[in-house]
Amino acid sequence: MEVERVQAIASMFTAKDGIPAEFVRSENERPGITTFQGPVPDVPTIDLRDPDREKIIREIADASQEWGIFQVVNHGIPDDIIRKLQDVGKEFFGLPQEEKEEYAIKPESDTLEGYGTKLQKDMEGKKAWVDFFFHNIWPLSRINHNVWPKNPPAYREANEEYAKYMQNVVDDLLSSLSLGLGLEAGVLKDAVGGDDLEFLLKINYYPPCPRPDLALGVVAHTDMSAITVLVPNEISGLQVFKDDIWFDVKYIPNALIVHIGDQTEILSNGKYKSVLHRTTVNKEKTRMSWPVFCSPPAEMVVGPLTQLVDDQNPPKFKTKKYKDYQYCKLNKLPQ
Ligand code: OGA
Ligand code: NI
Repeated sequence: MEVERVQAIASMFTAKDGIPAEFVRSENERPGITTFQGPVPDVPTIDLRDPDREKIIREIADASQEWGIFQVVNHGIPDDIIRKLQDVGKEFFGLPQEEKEEYAIKPESDTLEGYGTKLQKDMEGKKAWVDFFFHNIWPLSRINHNVWPKNPPAYREANEEYAKYMQNVVDDLLSSLSLGLGLEAGVLKDAVGGDDLEFLLKINYYPPCPRPDLALGVVAHTDMSAITVLVPNEISGLQVFKDDIWFDVKYIPNALIVHIGDQTEILSNGKYKSVLHRTTVNKEKTRMSWPVFCSPPAEMVVGPLTQLVDDQNPPKFKTKKYKDYQYCKLNKLPQ
């Protein structure tokens, strides 16, 4: 069965045509109606090179508690490493459709890796205005280079370099998050698998959409990961739900956007919030983003950290293997 790529659909429609009905969201989801109009708060931006370590830890903990999302600058990943990651991703999506299809995720396969478009419609019977590519970038034992794009030729090196720098950033964030809970620096990282923590890269490709007021890219969700570290291109579109309103996250060149995911919310027994977010699309421009989902290995058992639980603070979440959490969430079963 041929899968219809959003990129191909987008090339056939103009504002005059509108968009296919299966992309028109119900009114309670439409960004044109539900995006807050007026002054909105800024997601906190944290400078990781601040000499005051205590201050960084406090800012990260506060942002994770109140928002579940923050941006970081001076994070140590050189600008040109980010630019190369973005250039090769853009080049891949610019390849002829037949060439991209060589990497298509096979419906019968049990792997998440490869080129894809959400096949099934969601609960509302609607489709998302986005194509994507998934592949693991860390640890080495989880990398399958056969599923990575071979074209452009620089793809592999650009992604390997990015993954190398990303490890330091993630270690640093996890240790600050751990200290922010009043625990020793290494506790949180150990709880998500230590050096077996897995980095899954996703490239989101949101083609221009003639009716951005009616469609959504990724629909409202929280990430299953422990944390997600994302770089967007310069087109804004990420929206966060806070205090009952949806609003745009501001684009800051070369900043990384850090999402607290479900596993960190669980481990912190609800102190840190897994952020509800979604994406809108743009009328003229292609939006792209590169989230790295940092998740425990499948067999890792995750639950509220025992150090944070006592008679006054009973566990708010079940303890289970990450793969069981994933299964329930993907199949919309209760946790
Ligand atoms: C996601 C996601 C946000 C973005 O893919 O899980 O939330 O900015 N993407 O593209
Ligand atoms: Ni997400």
